[in-house]
Amino acid sequence: MGKINVDFSKLHIEEKEILKYSDSILNIHNFLHGKSSLEKEFLGWVELPSNYDKLEFDRIKDIALKIRNNSEILVVIGIGGSYLGARAVIEALIGSFENGDVSNTQVVYAGNNLSSRYLIDLINYIGDKDFSVNVISKSGTTTEPAIAFRIFKEMLEKKYGVNEAKKRIFVTTDKEKGALKLLANQEGYETFVIPNNIGGRYSVLTAVGLLPIAVAGLNIDKLMEGARTAQERFANPNLLSNECYKYAVVRNILYKEDKNIEILACYEPRLYYFAEWWKQLFGESEGKDLKGIFPASVCLTTDLHSMGQYIQEGRRNLIETVLNIVGGNMDIEVKEDKDNLDGLNYLVGKSLDYINKKAMEGTIEAHVDGGVPNILINIAELDEEAIGELVYFFELACAVSGSILGVNPFNQPGVEKYKRNMFKLLEKPGY
Ligand code: PA5
Repeated sequence: MGKINVDFSKLHIEEKEILKYSDSILNIHNFLHGKSSLEKEFLGWVELPSNYDKLEFDRIKDIALKIRNNSEILVVIGIGGSYLGARAVIEALIGSFENGDVSNTQVVYAGNNLSSRYLIDLINYIGDKDFSVNVISKSGTTTEPAIAFRIFKEMLEKKYGVNEAKKRIFVTTDKEKGALKLLANQEGYETFVIPNNIGGRYSVLTAVGLLPIAVAGLNIDKLMEGARTAQERFANPNLLSNECYKYAVVRNILYKEDKNIEILACYEPRLYYFAEWWKQLFGESEGKDLKGIFPASVCLTTDLHSMGQYIQEGRRNLIETVLNIVGGNMDIEVKEDKDNLDGLNYLVGKSLDYINKKAMEGTIEAHVDGGVPNILINIAELDEEAIGELVYFFELACAVSGSILGVNPFNQPGVEKYKRNMFKLLEKPGY
């Protein structure tokens, strides 16, 4: 029994349409669970929840404890798949206002843009606080995090001295190659490995995500447990009973009907960065060879007052996938006001969560009536297990969906194009 389930009841797709994909699904399933070397090149994430390096996992917990004991702030330096997963999980489970009571150490992010204003704001925010750095880059050569690391390394050395600074720098990178690995070896930094066969956007359940998540005070055992539940639940090749495979198929059926934008909608601001992670996962995996559903996101009801009009009545090329958090223990009740000048007394005794749910139900109905196919993903509650399950669900769905589409969901050749142009303009040697 897992903590998530998918409701396809608002779609008008006949079962026989879905079943047309049975053979294709079986082939993809066999590929994902196969053992050839080509398959092994990309597929380290498939069995990761049940087959990970336990020694490294324990080391992550030890180091996380050490960082929590000596740092008010952990600066996570990384971009794309090297930071979005951690941020998605941390913000979903801790919230938007620092770290609350969960941890003494706040996780902040650098190296995910080239804005000097952002960096100066961040440096000012850190001020005199004790901090450590976790620099994360699989290639070890990405410009944005490399620049940020140079800056924070110098800050650490100034504040703590060269030797003490080394004890506050944690590197997550390839086992052998890349400039970052070289630097880590030379300086003797504590390092964590991003396995060769796990790409950036599939790496949240490796040290890439786990170290920052553990520093934030979250339970990474539970996170892995949730992912393991999903690994077991969705290892079934039967298309009709495997909600993950069915979601991948349904996306492709709708894509063929010219639905080429999928909006991930949530009614919980804490899921904002989860949607950012999801967009990268699907965008980088499927957007190639002139194909792919464009992944977008909205946070509702906030965006009903900005994007709601388009979703309701704009071009009919949208799919809406809603993340619905079913339960939880945080709620606020509307109280009586004897004057009732705002006319809200009809809501007295009702909780904000109840009102939010009614907004969601009303919105789904309106969007479906307006011609936007709806997929509803119910999440029992917002905790480590549910998020771990959801992460694995989407990783698998993305790999399957991209394979049905006929693209390689594990590479990202298009990302190199801007880099070449930028390096040329910056007169980098060799460009
Ligand atoms: O998913 C991916 O592979 C990318 O988004 C990378 O994570 C991103 O480009 C950062 O790369 P690196 O970890 O090599 O610095």
